[in-house]
Formats: sequence, structure tokens, C-alpha cells
Amino acid sequence: MEYRRLGRTGEKVSTIGMGTWRIGVYDSPEEKRQQVNALRRGVELGINLIDTAEMYANGRSEEIVGEAVKDIRKQVFIATKVSPENLHHDSLLSSCKGSLHRLGTSYIDLYQVHWPNSRILIQETMDAMEELVREGKVRYIGVSNFSVAQTNAAREALSSNELASNQVEYSLANRSVEADILPYCEKEKISLIAYTPLARGRVPSSMFPAGLAVKYNMTPAQLMLNWVTQSEAVLAIPKAARIDHMEENASSLSVRFTESEYHAFNAGRNQTI
Ligand SMILES: NC(=O)c1ccc[n+]([C@@H]2O[C@H](COP(=O)([O-])OP(=O)(O)OC[C@H]3O[C@@H](n4cnc5c(N)ncnc54)[C@H](OP(=O)(O)O)[C@@H]3O)[C@@H](O)[C@H]2O)c1
Repeated sequence: MEYRRLGRTGEKVSTIGMGTWRIGVYDSPEEKRQQVNALRRGVELGINLIDTAEMYANGRSEEIVGEAVKDIRKQVFIATKVSPENLHHDSLLSSCKGSLHRLGTSYIDLYQVHWPNSRILIQETMDAMEELVREGKVRYIGVSNFSVAQTNAAREALSSNELASNQVEYSLANRSVEADILPYCEKEKISLIAYTPLARGRVPSSMFPAGLAVKYNMTPAQLMLNWVTQSEAVLAIPKAARIDHMEENASSLSVRFTESEYHAFNAGRNQTI
């Protein structure tokens, strides 16, 4: 497993993390068992970054993560998110309390603002975040779906903490962050946490250079994860409920492509390696 520093912190997190959107949706014992096993397999393989949110399955996702890590809490780095309607001071504190309870932990490693909310002052939100850090309930502060301007505003609102990360959609199928957010994160040493890195499982094989999968014996999902994490600033959080998917994703960085091979993705399948 490859590990990277989270933002400017000294924290090492796995470049490939685990997403948990839609886990807990059906809430059956079988689904829960499968999800818990997949997450624990990921940890066994060296993945320590787990991403969830209070919004996912109305809190069931956080409960399943809590169940999966209850005896291995120190081995994992839990990132969760506060919903945009809960960004006023008191609501944010109460959201954090709810997440801590569902996760069965006394601290959240990375607490992220899930989406910006223009009706609530970012200063109030970041003051509440810093209060949680002072109380030891949160270790690092992040945002999600923030533009460059919104990220700058969040950073300016922080007085004694650095903003660690911005979680945004990034994959071969959606490269829009390359225009501004990715270069900004690289320059400012903020981790870009790439969500939906597998395009929700609809892997666009037309975008792979011919021969690369064969040369490195890699699956389309592995190519996508390897490609999306080529910048040092990026961490990716694919969601995998199936153990075989989890294992495939965990081994997607066993080799790194050459610069020209990464570049060849721009030309799609017609590019030969
Ligand atoms: N901040 C935000 O606003 C936001 C928005 C969306 C997502 N997220 C986060 O990002 C995470 C990932 O995004 P996502 O869940 O939207 O989509 P994703 O990770 O791009 O795709 C998940 C889908 O890909 C499949 N998959 C996983 N590994 C595979 C493999 N090796 N080969 C083929 N298919 C594979 C999964 O199947 P199985 O589950 O059956 O294994 C699942 O159907 C979320 O779970 C969530 O934590 C954040």
C-alpha cells in the first residue's frame, strides 16, 4: 500500500481509501455482514482511510463503519462529513456528537463540510470546527465540493488550524478539477480527496491506452485508480462492497506508470504504449 501525507499535517493516510456511500441503504443483516467484511479486508490490506458522512443512509453508513472498526480503531483514519444544513455552530456540534455516537468513537480524524452553504457564514462554521478540535473530538478539518474561492474563504476563517483537504469528484470520466482545484491543492499542499474515482463502476474503457492493461496485467478499475492518483496531492476513495473489488482496488498502485504512459491516457484507447 502507498501512503501520503494528508495536507500539511504529519498524518500518513493510504493513497487508496474506502468510500461508503450507499452502504447501509438496504439495512439487511446480510448487507451489513458483507460491508463489515469488505471494510475489514481493506484494513488488512493496509488501507487506513475510510470516508463516510452523517447523510449516508441516514447515519447507517457511519454505524456500519463503527461496527467494522470497533476493535481496530487506532489502525484507521476515519473521515466523516457534516451536512450543509447543519453548519450553524450549535447544529454542527450536535451533528458531530451524533457521528461520534454512531461511529462508536471519541474522535473523528477528519471532519469535512459536505457541501458549502451560502446562507451560513463560513466563519461561524469554521469557528465551530476549531472548537471541536480544541475539545479533542476532531483532529483535522476538511471541506468537500468547495470551489477554489470557497476553499480560500474556509482557510481564511481558520485561526489555529490548516485546512487539510477538499473532497471533490475526480476520475477519468470527470476531469473538471484539473482546470483549477487540482493545481490549487498541489500548490497549497491541500489533499484532494477524489470521490467517485471509478465513475460509479461504469469504467470507460474507451479512455485507456491500448496495451497498458495487458502490459501491467491490470483491470480497468486498477488503471483508473492508478491514473487518478498520479499527482501526489490526490487520495482516492473508491467504494467497494465486494471483497474481490476491495482486493483489486487495494493492489492498484503496485506499479506506477511512466510519465509518457500517464500522458497516453489523454489520447484514449488509440494510443499505443
Ligand atoms: N463528498 C461528496 O459529495 C461525495 C459524493 C459522492 C461520493 N462520495 C464518496 O466517494 C465514494 C466513492 O464514490 P462512489 O461510491 O460514488 O463511486 P465509485 O467509487 O466511483 O464506484 C463505486 C462502484 O464501483 C464498483 N467497484 C468498486 N471497485 C470495483 C472494481 N475493482 N471493479 C469494478 N467495479 C468496482 C462498486 O461495486 P461494489 O460496491 O459492488 O463492490 C460500486 O458499484 C463514496 O462511497 C463516498 O464515500 C462523496
